[in-house]
Amino acid sequence: MTSSQRASRIEIRRRSREGGPFARLAEDVRRGLTKTRKELPPKYFYDARGAELFEQISELPEYYLTRTEHALLAQIADPVVASFRPTTLVEFGSGSSRKTRILLDAIARAGLLDLYVPIDVSEEMLRQTAHALGENYPGLRIHGVIGDFEEHVEALPEGGPRLIIFLGSTIGNLTPDEATGFLRNVARVLAPQDRFLLGTDLVKEVDVLERAYNDTAGVTATFNRNILSVINQRLNAHFDLDRFDHSAFYNREESRIEMHLVARESHRVAIGAIDLTVDFSKGESIRTEISCKYTQAMVEAMLEKAGLRMTRWDTDTNHFFALSLSAALH
Ligand code: AVJ
Repeated sequence: MTSSQRASRIEIRRRSREGGPFARLAEDVRRGLTKTRKELPPKYFYDARGAELFEQISELPEYYLTRTEHALLAQIADPVVASFRPTTLVEFGSGSSRKTRILLDAIARAGLLDLYVPIDVSEEMLRQTAHALGENYPGLRIHGVIGDFEEHVEALPEGGPRLIIFLGSTIGNLTPDEATGFLRNVARVLAPQDRFLLGTDLVKEVDVLERAYNDTAGVTATFNRNILSVINQRLNAHFDLDRFDHSAFYNREESRIEMHLVARESHRVAIGAIDLTVDFSKGESIRTEISCKYTQAMVEAMLEKAGLRMTRWDTDTNHFFALSLSAALH
C-alpha cells in the first residue's frame, strides 16, 4: 500500500477550534490552584510520558481494573456484536486501544468491520495506535480525533449501527453530576440501532481499592507527580516534584478513590506563563483525581437519569468490574 492510500484511510484530526486537549490548561490550572482546596483536572496527566506511565499501571499486579475488564470483554464481545451487528466502533478515551482489539476482532469475525473512531487527549498515543491498528486491520478506516471525551460526543460518524465504548472506568474521573451530563450527551446522539458499552469499577473491600492506587513499585506515585511536570513544561512553572508526596485513599462517603499530591514542607511555586505564585503550607494537598466506584444500582440509576436503558450487565466472578450495554430510551 502506498503512503497516500494509507493517509486517506487513516486520519487524525484535532476537533476543537481552540487547539486540542491542553488548550484550557492555563485557565484550569489558575482556577484549580487558587481554590481553598487545590485541585487539578486528571486529564492533564496524559502527555506522552503520562500515557506511558498509565500503560505501566495497567500491568501492575495491584491494578486489577484493566485485566479484569479485558477478560470480560473477551467473554462478551461475540454475543454483543451478534445482538445488534455494528459496523462502526467509536471509542472515548481510547488510550493504547489494546482492549479495543477484542471488539474489532469480534466485529471483523462477523464480517461487519468498517470504521473505528478513537477519541483521545494523547495525540502521540492516538497516532501510534492508529498506525499500528492500520497494519493489523487492512480494510479498516480509522478516523482519530484528538480531544477531550467531554467535548467530542459530537464527533460521532454517520452510518452504523455504531458501538460506542467508554472503557476502563474513566467515567469514574467525573463527579456523579458531570458523569450524568456526559451520558446525557451520549444518549442524545445515540440512534435507536446504536449501543453504548460502559466500563465501571465496582465498590469493593477498601484494601483492594487502596492497594490498586498505592502500588509497591511506585508507578502510580510517579504518574501522579507527572501532572506537575506537565504544568512545568507547558506553563513554565517551577514545581519541584520531590517536594510532594503521593497519597491515594478511599473516600467511603463519596464512593471514590481520591489521589492527592501533598506538600512535604511549606513553599511557594511560580507559574510563569500565567503570572501566578501558589503558596503551599506543609501537608496541604492538591487533589489530582477522583476515581468513583459503583454498584450495579448506581450505574443503572445514572444511565436511566441520562436517558439510557441498560440492556446487558456483565461482571467477573469477584464482582470487581462491570461492563454495561445500553440503548437510548427515546
Ligand atoms: C484511567 C481514569 C480509569 O481512575 O483508575 C490509575 C487512572 N489513576 N491509577 C483510574 C489511574 C491512578 C484510572 N483511569
